[in-house]
Amino acid sequence: MTAVLCVVFLILTFLWTLTRADTDVSCVYMENCILPCSIQGSSDVVIHWVQTEGNVPVHAYYDDQDQLAFQALHIRNRTSLFKDQILRGNISLQLTGVKVQDQGRYKCYSDGQEKHVVVKVYAPVNKVDIHQVENSITCSSEGIYPEPELTWSTNPPIKITFNTTTRVQQTKQQLYNISSSLILSDPGTDVVYSCTISTRRNKRRTALFRPSKSFQENLRRFI
Ligand SMILES: *[C@@H]1O[C@H](CO)[C@@H](O)[C@H](O)[C@H]1NC(C)=O
Ligand SMILES: *[C@@H]1O[C@H](CO)[C@@H](O)[C@H](O)[C@H]1NC(C)=O
Ligand SMILES: *[C@@H]1O[C@H](CO)[C@@H](O)[C@H](O)[C@H]1NC(C)=O
Ligand SMILES: *[C@@H]1O[C@H](CO)[C@@H](O)[C@H](O)[C@H]1NC(C)=O
Repeated sequence: MTAVLCVVFLILTFLWTLTRADTDVSCVYMENCILPCSIQGSSDVVIHWVQTEGNVPVHAYYDDQDQLAFQALHIRNRTSLFKDQILRGNISLQLTGVKVQDQGRYKCYSDGQEKHVVVKVYAPVNKVDIHQVENSITCSSEGIYPEPELTWSTNPPIKITFNTTTRVQQTKQQLYNISSSLILSDPGTDVVYSCTISTRRNKRRTALFRPSKSFQENLRRFI
């Protein structure tokens, strides 16, 4: 008997967490993104989307039209519902031109039902630049989110630790620019320097070949 009750309780807890669980959505910076939300359809449609923190109004719909008078400024003109889907209970919100500020937890509610969506924004590492000026190599990339990591490696592996300086700056759009410089020492052999910039979403690597001194001297003599 107790065992049966226990199982019933577990199933109920499971169903409860299932319905309560937040939906996670990954949105790409500057692209469009759909925040999914489904409810049991009803004829008297009143829909509200708010940002949970601070209860910021994001989108409202009633009397058969969008009601945007109270919409938060940072999201103005960037939200829409799929009108043809509303009567089917699909009250998903489309967000255009995603910004880093759009991150956070959202709540949709209608007809006494509510769901939560957690939005994460990322701007992937696109292009990694590497170049050499005198005895220093610089590796850099821009417009990344979340904060990237940068690592150096060589082939063949060099035993001595590098002297590197890495600088991270955040832009007005809250994206990250990263740049790292490495002071070269002469290991007396050909070396390929690689730089990897990564976030938890993606990584990009680029490399620069630096021939040994003797090779360069030979080259000079040859030219
Ligand atoms: C929203 O769009 C309207 C009409 O196109 C425009 O006048 C207004 O400045 C826009 N608002 C924002 C915050 O972009
Ligand atoms: C809701 O409508 C949008 C746009 O048509 C669609 O992409 C999405 O899959 C729909 N969601 C559900 C649960 O039907
Ligand atoms: C690393 O490079 C910087 C800048 O060139 C220099 O000031 C510093 O002394 C160097 N540190 C080491 C441990 O070589
Ligand atoms: C980040 O990089 C972009 C593109 O090169 C540049 O326009 C911007 O000024 C940089 N911002 C900062 C804070 O370094």
